[in-house]
Amino acid sequence: MSNSTEKTIKSSIRIGWESPSNIALIKYWGKYGQQLPKNPSVSFTLHTAATRTFVTWSPDEKFDQPEVTLLFEGSQKESFRLRMANFIESVTEKYFPSLRKGHIQIETSNSFPHSSGIASSASAMSAIALCLCDIENFISGNTTSNDIFYRKASYIARLGSGSACRSVYPLMAVWGVDPSVYESSEEWAVGIESEIHPVFHTFHDDILIISPKEKSVSSTAGHQLMENNPYASARYTQASQRLSQLLTALRDGDLDTFGKITEDEALTLHALMMCSDPSYILMEEGSLSVINKIRKFRKDTGISIWFTLDAGPNVHVLYPEASESSVTPFILNELKPHCHEGKIIRDRVGTGPVKLC
Ligand code: DP6
Repeated sequence: MSNSTEKTIKSSIRIGWESPSNIALIKYWGKYGQQLPKNPSVSFTLHTAATRTFVTWSPDEKFDQPEVTLLFEGSQKESFRLRMANFIESVTEKYFPSLRKGHIQIETSNSFPHSSGIASSASAMSAIALCLCDIENFISGNTTSNDIFYRKASYIARLGSGSACRSVYPLMAVWGVDPSVYESSEEWAVGIESEIHPVFHTFHDDILIISPKEKSVSSTAGHQLMENNPYASARYTQASQRLSQLLTALRDGDLDTFGKITEDEALTLHALMMCSDPSYILMEEGSLSVINKIRKFRKDTGISIWFTLDAGPNVHVLYPEASESSVTPFILNELKPHCHEGKIIRDRVGTGPVKLC
């Protein structure tokens, strides 16, 4: 280790990353082992919905495990601090031992409003993972290649929240094994930007906030319910098949196949929830109204516009740049009235995380 590095680690280090949320097209739903997915998934990386996280690491020999403090949007939030502290405790033990003797101060905030119902563990956990990997590189003097850095960040983010591993790449990422995706793995996601047809590089995702309420069943609980779902094994096979068909459509710029598979996936996700024991429904009346209107508008006009759903009532409206001028009035006049307080986050595919300091 060089003298300059030794000198640096005696004082505090502050590093910041902004990391986006992502929306899955093929859904990760069901997991095993340590945060490994039962089926492969693919997502669009978003642009506007993002988390900014700053981590200050202050070395202190008196600690055996890192002491974590956290400010969320300027205020203390104990439940979030505890989640982060548990995550940091577990990942530093195995992957960042040099960070354990110190104090870790986290300041984090979201670009999207508090009560938008899209509280995103993907953006939060990918942002903290990027910060930890970056600090560790700084302390150890490592100059890993970008590829190795993002792969480690993806791996660490996965341990915090599965879907977070896809957020560290621009445009699109695949998590889980697909034979056509080089180095695809269940342990990390792989960026696939270079393979994707240009029409998808400027895709829009308008997030219709149907309800800002916290979900009645968390994603983590939803994954668990897949364990006794009678359709689980057929579902995992279907997801792998759909992924390979969708990847072909994404490479070819085949919008119709893209749209069909994407909508089928969204409805399958919610059908699986309805078939769980106990069954539950996260869509609301507004979600169904919007879905029906999107399908009718597409049928009547022939305009390219589709939807997908997260594990909640909000609807993501997906369309290519070329549809924007005709889709915007439709969204504002027909769909916005179904949104909670008319809330829409007009997002689009993004270029991935950004280092802030
Ligand atoms: C429906 O990644 O939130 O959004 O790994 O338990 O944190 P944990 O679950 P999470 O599940 C996301 C489920 C999904 C589909 C997806 O993003 O692929």
